[in-house]
Amino acid sequence: MRIMLTVNGKEYVRDVEPRVLLVHFLRDELGLTGTHWGCDTSNCGVCVVRLDGVPVKSCTVLAVMADGHDVHTVEGLANGAELDPVQEGFVACHGLQCGFCTPGMMMTARWLLDEHPDPSEEDIRTALSGQLCRCTGYENIVRAIQWAAAKESS
Ligand code: FES
Ligand code: FES
Repeated sequence: MRIMLTVNGKEYVRDVEPRVLLVHFLRDELGLTGTHWGCDTSNCGVCVVRLDGVPVKSCTVLAVMADGHDVHTVEGLANGAELDPVQEGFVACHGLQCGFCTPGMMMTARWLLDEHPDPSEEDIRTALSGQLCRCTGYENIVRAIQWAAAKESS
């Protein structure tokens, strides 16, 4: 099937098999490997991207379902050399260890701060509740998002 979609502001037209998942389309067809693939069960959340602004697990979406839609991946977070405040927060607060969960965490965090610029700790933990991190214990991820929220409100 021929699909046309926008990814990080750039338009793509591609022929895809109907069974191809969005996560594989992004990684294998477009070379956007910042979106990770970590499970076969829709549990881990490392594949989160934004589809028309809403965070989705891209392993639960077929590429053909993104036809005509707007996708944002972690590669689109920074503005050139200028990091997004969420990325700065993860650096400042050491919000990662191995980094495997980080792209998905950042995409959800960016959505949260766009929707709720002043989230409580509970809001942050609820937003991240569909995503797993095997390394950090979540504490520094939460701090990183609080850091970004504080920076954006200053
Ligand atoms: Fe694990 Fe998508 S790859 S939830
Ligand atoms: Fe390793 Fe989160 S930093 S899984």
